[in-house]
Amino acid sequence: MSSPFIPALKYHFLTPIYDWFIALTLPEITVKKQLIRQANIKKAEKVLDYGCGTGTLLLLLEELHPDCEAIGIEVDTQMLKMAQRKVAEKNSSVQLQYYEGDRLPYETGTFDKVISSWVFQHLTTSQKIASFREIHRVLKPEGEFHMADWGKAQNALMRSLFFVVQVIDNFYTTDDNIQGRLPSLMQEAGFPKVQILHNQSTLFGTLSYFKALKS
Ligand SMILES: C[S@@+](CC[C@H](N)C(=O)[O-])C[C@H]1O[C@@H](n2cnc3c(N)ncnc32)[C@H](O)[C@@H]1O
Repeated sequence: MSSPFIPALKYHFLTPIYDWFIALTLPEITVKKQLIRQANIKKAEKVLDYGCGTGTLLLLLEELHPDCEAIGIEVDTQMLKMAQRKVAEKNSSVQLQYYEGDRLPYETGTFDKVISSWVFQHLTTSQKIASFREIHRVLKPEGEFHMADWGKAQNALMRSLFFVVQVIDNFYTTDDNIQGRLPSLMQEAGFPKVQILHNQSTLFGTLSYFKALKS
């Protein structure tokens, strides 16, 4: 039995237009390439994309680092099917895995890097901490977590734009983001050092790039 989750565009019936909507409204590819650059992937590293959605970040990762082992995990079977289609079309060797939303199906210390984009705004505070704990667990001792997600607004315009998102989406999962609580939640989950490396203004508010070290 899987944990309840919020679909990528809030309603399941909107999931088929996810790729189209994101590409049209956000600098998606720029953001995902920036996140991959930030993660500084090295040869043969094993990388997990947490909440891989339709697989765009994973496919970019494979294109930029064909020698790494790229695995994506996703709770929404509808998103996973869209990812499977894209992976098959590209004849890609990235691996995709369904996940029930609680314990990650990997041994402790499996991954060199975990990456994630636009996932944590859909999680309640307790789900965020539990997910950060699991990500921390599956990283190798020198492992790193790199994440792009909504962060604390950098100015009044960014705050207003994100308020609109919160009204349309919801307040209870996005409040940690806008209040700037993601770093302290990661620390609570076991990451001793969390940094925000970059903030970017977008149509929906400030997007922050986080880096957290396992030890
Ligand atoms: C906005 S989409 C982002 C997808 C992809 N990472 C991207 O950048 O395009 C949010 C993703 O978070 C996933 N998600 C929602 N609730 C989750 C949960 N409790 N645990 C893990 N992932 C979850 C959704 O299924 C969806 O794929």
